Amino acid sequence: MTSIRSYKGISPSFDDSVYIDKTSVIVGDVRLGKDASIWPLVSARGDVNHIVIGERTNIQDNSVLHVTHKNNDNPDGYPLVIGNDVTVGHKVMLHGCIIEDRVLVGMGTIILDGVVVESDVMIGAGSLVPPNKRLESGYLYVGSPVKQARPLTDKERAFLQKSADNYVQNKNDYMHKVHSIR
Ligand SMILES: CC(C)(COP(=O)(O)OP(=O)(O)OC[C@H]1O[C@@H](n2cnc3c(N)ncnc32)[C@H](O)[C@@H]1OP(=O)(O)O)[C@@H](O)C(=O)NCCC(=O)NCCS
Repeated sequence: MTSIRSYKGISPSFDDSVYIDKTSVIVGDVRLGKDASIWPLVSARGDVNHIVIGERTNIQDNSVLHVTHKNNDNPDGYPLVIGNDVTVGHKVMLHGCIIEDRVLVGMGTIILDGVVVESDVMIGAGSLVPPNKRLESGYLYVGSPVKQARPLTDKERAFLQKSADNYVQNKNDYMHKVHSIR
């Protein structure tokens, strides 16, 4: 039932270490790094621009990933580029933005075109990040529109990596289970 589809001759790319839940839909130019995981009902549509999902990054249930096309005013458009060890919580909307490494995007958050989220940032659940905003490394951001709340604690910084590691373990368990019932 997994829907991994090509669009205009370009197919999603990933290796055997990547976990993609059968109910997700992955279309076109979507490039997944090693040990990435895609959970139930995710939609990632790399049609009018490309999507990069970094190594060990997890995209949790019901999240939507899309991009903005290239045009005269904006020749590169807005691709979606997600770094390594990123946790994208449940029901997140990521559109045409750049997310660097070890970021946690709280569940239900919406991030719009041209945003850059620097490495080691946590975004609280239910936040809205307006177009072209830059979120500075080392801080917690919350709210709609998002505001810088405070610096992350050492424990929270460590958790950003831990969260990604947990999801690599989860996807390994799921892959093992899938293999064992075949
Ligand atoms: C923001 C967060 C990290 C908690 O941060 P915190 O500083 O420990 O927050 P606290 O619980 O001490 O609350 C501090 C204040 O922020 C508010 N707050 C907490 N989470 C908030 C959020 N997501 N958005 C807006 N305000 C929030 C609290 O109500 C509180 O307000 P008050 O001071 O007026 O009472 C947490 O609430 C959160 O959103 N985590 C994301 C979890 C997630 O989505 N994970 C995804 C993977 S499963």
